[in-house]
Amino acid sequence: MRALWAALVGIVGLSGSIWASAGPARAVAPSPEVGSEIAARWCAACHVVSPSGAGTDAAPSFANIARHRDADFLKGFLAQPHARPMRGFTLSKREIDDVTAYIATLGR
Ligand code: HEC
Repeated sequence: MRALWAALVGIVGLSGSIWASAGPARAVAPSPEVGSEIAARWCAACHVVSPSGAGTDAAPSFANIARHRDADFLKGFLAQPHARPMRGFTLSKREIDDVTAYIATLGR
């Protein structure tokens, strides 16, 4: 029993250090799910962010963007604030990766 515990603690400890060495910003792959939540919270006021659905014509829909833009464009574009009403609004690199991953799911 004691040996089993030691083995379990060892496994947990080892995987813990693997996560830690990956660094906080890149511990897991970009998440379309998180990107979807960011889009709903920060982008939906102007963009239609769902795969389909009604919205405003003020800004291109994310589904449309997904069909015309690639990930490199999105990452570069989103590194800068856009649309003047959103002054002072910036996404972290992590958030940009998540939103880009989400938009990519809309282009299929
Ligand atoms: C205040 C309104 C507003 C908000 C909020 C907003 N956008 Fe925009 N966005 C626009 C407008 C207007 C355009 C088109 C004009 C431009 O490119 O600046 C645009 C353009 C874009 C484009 C470029 C489309 C293309 O193909 O050129 C991308 C990508 C984009 N927005 C992503 C986002 C994301 C992601 C968010 C949320 C994190 C967001 N936007 C929030 C108004 C907004």
